[in-house]
Amino acid sequence: MVAKILFDGTKKSALGEWHEAAASTDLAEGQGLQVQRGHDRIYLCRSQGFAHAVEDRCTHGEAAFSESGRVRSGFLLCLAHGARFDLASGRCLGAMRCPQLRRWRVLEENGAIFLGEEYPPG
Ligand code: FES
Repeated sequence: MVAKILFDGTKKSALGEWHEAAASTDLAEGQGLQVQRGHDRIYLCRSQGFAHAVEDRCTHGEAAFSESGRVRSGFLLCLAHGARFDLASGRCLGAMRCPQLRRWRVLEENGAIFLGEEYPPG
């Protein structure tokens, strides 16, 4: 599913600034959607009950997960060539050697999903 969502709510906490990206009901288990944040296209998805946010671009060949990705239990599968990425770490799984995905902090509360700062690589 592809959906461009403008951030309409911002709040601050000890962990920095958070931007409202979607309603919790927009993201069913095993589903994902694309959100735009500045120049970044972010793939917001839900797996095992938790929301995750990674760059909407496979690091193997640049396919967009919002078009050719599938959310599985704990990982993201790119249908273009079969690369799999751990959603918790962004690391490529299995025999393929792909760079780690960029990831963002996610907070879900009061029926809304917020995006925070990008995690440092590693
Ligand atoms: S582009 Fe994703 S596996 Fe090749």
